[in-house]
Amino acid sequence: MKTIRDLADQLGGKRVLMRVDFNVPMDKETGQISNDLRIRMALPTIRFATERGARVVLMSHLGRPKGKPDRKYSLKKVAHRLAELLGAPVALASDCVGPEAQKAVQALADGAVLMLENTRFHAEEEANDAEFSARLAGLADCYVNDAFGTAHRAHASTAGVARHLPAAAGFLIEKEVEFLSRATTNPDHPYVAVMGGAKVSDKIEVLKNLLGKVDAMLVGGAMAYTFLKQQGVNVGASLVEEDRLDVAAELLELGGDRIELPVDHVCARDINADAEPATFEDEIPDGWIGLDIGPRTAQQYAQKIKTAALVTWNGPVGYFEIDNFAAGTRAVAQAMADSDATTIVGGGETAEAVEEFGLQDKISHVSTGGGAALEFLAGDELPGIAILQ
Ligand code: 3PG
Repeated sequence: MKTIRDLADQLGGKRVLMRVDFNVPMDKETGQISNDLRIRMALPTIRFATERGARVVLMSHLGRPKGKPDRKYSLKKVAHRLAELLGAPVALASDCVGPEAQKAVQALADGAVLMLENTRFHAEEEANDAEFSARLAGLADCYVNDAFGTAHRAHASTAGVARHLPAAAGFLIEKEVEFLSRATTNPDHPYVAVMGGAKVSDKIEVLKNLLGKVDAMLVGGAMAYTFLKQQGVNVGASLVEEDRLDVAAELLELGGDRIELPVDHVCARDINADAEPATFEDEIPDGWIGLDIGPRTAQQYAQKIKTAALVTWNGPVGYFEIDNFAAGTRAVAQAMADSDATTIVGGGETAEAVEEFGLQDKISHVSTGGGAALEFLAGDELPGIAILQ
């Protein structure tokens, strides 16, 4: 895969159209960016280009505005945050194509950064429309894709545009591919995967793919109750995907004794911050909802993680947003931080958990991809990356 390094001596004075994934979470109450990981992770590529005198034209989507302009999804706050992080001004063009975009690009000085408004304000973006891709490409001399989080989407700004310009990957995509490939191709052993989250159905392909590679798969989160129910264990009022019990059976068959399920459970009668927690061994009594792995499970899982050579983690093992049910997820995160293994955390909620515990710097790689990381771990080809190869 060509990277921006290969373009290094062609960047001076050139217009570089760079796709980033600045689809960052916003705090519902304050409307401010609640986690800027994706912006920070794009800085090395942006700086590499500006330091060589490139005129950097950034494009991203934010949210799902349904193909038309919607102020709620403006990249204004994102451009502002980027300017703070770069310590340099970042202008925002009011559109990503057309006269406003062209004017703003023309006004760019060498080494300066411009952000185009949300690409999803045009329906042609998600349709990967050829003419729209050509209009985006017309703004620049070369294209760099560093939007790992959106690499599973074949959109105009992530794939179509690469057909019209010399194209390369940025450092974030390079790093993501390097680490996530270690989790899927010739992994080091002992290899442990921790899989959590609410639903088996969200992760069937990942579970199948990784089961063929790992030495142990430690299951937590609500998805564990679908597996346990399939095994005939009473799971009380816990979330169970009744229509996926057959999938759970298939995975248990495939995984054999490599699949490990919780042996104790932190439960409550309701899901809220005031709910009184109780811990049960093995079975969960009627009326109780399993909301976290219990301390014995956490200890067993931590031990496995600490003695592994490679650990991949995707999905919290409990309802960590509520303190009473965060201990299991915290124990997994801490064990990964303490482990000498190469540790890889899939994005989305798992990355948020690791950041919340302040352990992100002790993990080898925290992915910025939610859906993209899952598809990568499932062994799928990502269109935004395939087109660069
Ligand atoms: C993400 O947050 O997973 C990416 O930015 C992709 O967003 P999307 O699911 O709306 O395509």
